[in-house]
Amino acid sequence: MSPASLRIRRLRATDIDPCARLIAADPLWKRYHITLARARRLLQEVLAATHRGGGRTGGTGEFAVAHSGGQVVGFIWFRLDGTFHHSGYVRWIGVARNVRGHGVGAKLMAYAERKIFARGPNVFLMVSAFNTGAQKFYKRLGYAEIGAVPNYAIRGITERLFRKTRGPLSAPAIRAGARRRRSASRISVSVP
Ligand SMILES: CC(C)(COP(=O)(O)OP(=O)(O)OC[C@H]1O[C@@H](n2cnc3c(N)ncnc32)[C@H](O)[C@@H]1OP(=O)(O)O)[C@@H](O)C(=O)NCCC(=O)NCCS
Repeated sequence: MSPASLRIRRLRATDIDPCARLIAADPLWKRYHITLARARRLLQEVLAATHRGGGRTGGTGEFAVAHSGGQVVGFIWFRLDGTFHHSGYVRWIGVARNVRGHGVGAKLMAYAERKIFARGPNVFLMVSAFNTGAQKFYKRLGYAEIGAVPNYAIRGITERLFRKTRGPLSAPAIRAGARRRRSASRISVSVP
C-alpha cells in the first residue's frame, strides 16, 4: 500500500459492509461479542444519525474510513465530547491486517485528534489490558496510561484508560482558541 494513496473520509453506505467485515474478523472484537450483524447494525445507526443531524455527528460520534486503491483499509470511530462530558474519546480503531505497520493507524488517529483538539485539549481512550500491541501503538503516538477500569465492557477484562493531553480544560490558550472559534460556550470550564 502506498501511503500517498491513502484517503480518509466519513462513513458512506458502501463502506458499511467492508468495515463490518474488518471488525467481525478481528479477534479483539470477537472477545467483545461483536458479530458481523451487530457491526453492520452499529454502522447503520451511525450513518442514520449523521444523516439526521445534517452531517453533524451527535451522540453516535463520527466514523471515518481510510481508503487506498479503492479498498477500505481501516476506520476510526470517535466522539468530540465522549469523555467526562468535555473531552474527546476514541472508541474504536482498526486497520486491515495486510496493511498494518504502514502508518494507516497513525493517520487515522491524526484525523480524529485534529478534530478533537480543535474543540478541547484532551483525547481519552480505553484499551483492553490484553491488547498489548495497541497499547504500544498508543504510547508511540503520545498517549499515557492514567488508570484502569476492571469489568467495564465485559466481566473479566480490564480496560486501561489512556490520555493524550495539551493541558487542562481551563488553560488560557484553550480559552483563547475557543473564543477565536466563537465556540467558547460549548466548552464549559466549570469542572466538575
Ligand atoms: C492498533 C492498530 C490500529 C495499529 O495500526 P497500524 O496501521 O498497524 O499502526 P501504524 O503503522 O500507524 O503504527 C504507528 C506506530 O505505532 C507502532 N505500532 C503499531 N502497532 C504496534 C504493535 N502491535 N506493537 C508495537 N508497536 C506498534 C508502529 O511501529 C509505529 O511506530 P513508528 O512510527 O515508530 O514506526 C492495528 O494494529 C489494529 O487494527 N489492531 C487491531 C484492532 C485494535 O487492537 N484496535 C485498537 C483498540 S480499539
